[in-house]
Amino acid sequence: MALKNTSFQLLSEIATNGNHGENSSYFDGWKAYESDPYHPTENPQGVIQMGLAENPLSLDLIQEWILKNPKGSICTPEGVKWFKYIANFQDYHGLPEFRNGLANYMSKVRGGRVRFDPDRIVMGGGTTGANELIMFCLANGGDAFLVPSPYYPAFARDLCWRTKARLIPVECYSINNFMVTREALEEAYNKAIDANINVKGLIITNPSNPLGTTMDKETLKSIVGFINEKNIHLVCDEIYAGTVFRGPRFVSVSEVMQELEHCNKDLIHIVYSLSKDLGIPGLRVGIVYSYNDEVVNQGRKMSSFGLVSTQTQFFVAALLSDDEFVERFLAESARRLAARYNHFTKELEKVNITCLPSNAGLFFWMNLRGLLKEKTFEGEMMLWHVIINEVKLNVSPGSAFNCSEPGWYRVCFANMDDETVEVALKRIRAFVGKETGKPVELKRWKSNLRLSFSSRRFDENVMSPHMLSPHSPMPHSPLVRAT
Ligand SMILES: Cc1ncc(COP(=O)(O)O)c(C=O)c1O
Repeated sequence: MALKNTSFQLLSEIATNGNHGENSSYFDGWKAYESDPYHPTENPQGVIQMGLAENPLSLDLIQEWILKNPKGSICTPEGVKWFKYIANFQDYHGLPEFRNGLANYMSKVRGGRVRFDPDRIVMGGGTTGANELIMFCLANGGDAFLVPSPYYPAFARDLCWRTKARLIPVECYSINNFMVTREALEEAYNKAIDANINVKGLIITNPSNPLGTTMDKETLKSIVGFINEKNIHLVCDEIYAGTVFRGPRFVSVSEVMQELEHCNKDLIHIVYSLSKDLGIPGLRVGIVYSYNDEVVNQGRKMSSFGLVSTQTQFFVAALLSDDEFVERFLAESARRLAARYNHFTKELEKVNITCLPSNAGLFFWMNLRGLLKEKTFEGEMMLWHVIINEVKLNVSPGSAFNCSEPGWYRVCFANMDDETVEVALKRIRAFVGKETGKPVELKRWKSNLRLSFSSRRFDENVMSPHMLSPHSPMPHSPLVRAT
């Protein structure tokens, strides 16, 4: 023990300050899963992982494409002639084909309503690296970014741990479906100013993790107006842009900027990756797209610490330059996400569990306030312990997302196969029946919802695909993963 302490003391302040944010219930849930992972035959009573925002639902389509396009890999007879060039190429601008392909793809995901300049793309190691890179470009230690709550728990690590910047929550509430209001922004900003904190910017996640909702145009316009007025930066994490599976459609900040007459583009930066849309977080394709020339210049130099490997760039360039594939993939992926979401939430409704209506992402925001023994965050944690230890489901409690109200839980719905979904639903039904003894009063969402679910493209009767088992022989260490 003494030895351990001594070796700890030999490390840097950053390495030992504990600000990586992994001491939270969000990661504890993963640890619980890892010590007792569900397996249909080997461990049928184990914990089901519903805390991981992964999207393997359409990976079969990419696999199919790989088989049909051996030239896209340098490790095949058809592609090996590129090996020497690719293995030797290391330039922080990245392959032009990669940046062109990505710019083109980003435009497609945004309905072709905006164009992206490949020269503004700066590589990061996934969105994790890209988020840290943009913070290093914009904030000094001690500076703050506002962030609407609830928000992605690993922001504490990605945005603050090594940069020493800090986050100030903008409190949002269920009364208006957690929409960001101008009043809430002003309140958070003024609080920071009163406390002598230098506010450098605002970071939003659109579509939202954990809510699974998209921001409407008016809200985005109001946000852009706010940051312009205060002369602070706006970072838009649009990592879930391609996971929108029903209406309303996704509106990117890039689209809103085009429509605003007075908008200082130097203040706006998008962070993006293929981790969620294509379900390939392992390839670490993440980027910063900045409208600010200096950020592009300086960020590119910093990106030396988190480049995307050239082999991956080569593959992604080939994949994304296949327009027909990209269009088919996006449509099919949305259809499969919608089918899974509809099935899950409809089954929960049958046991009177409601969720915030959502239209994007790989998760939904489940309302269990009716099951709390006391309506406090302690009550939320008590229920969470029962869910994880007795029901054996790793869902994530709202407090891990800095939610302002107790009783909300994030449920990831895309990272498991159809059979596991049924096991999870069976456990939930049994639990709710036992807890309540009678049906919980069904709370219908009011008609003034900002989301209008008009799209008929995503028919809920569509069968979701049968997937390969997600049980990997390799342990998923929470110390290295964060989704
Ligand atoms: C909002 C948000 N930003 C960033 C990330 C990190 O993504 P990546 O795997 O591209 O690093 C995640 C992962 O869940 C996320 O939800």
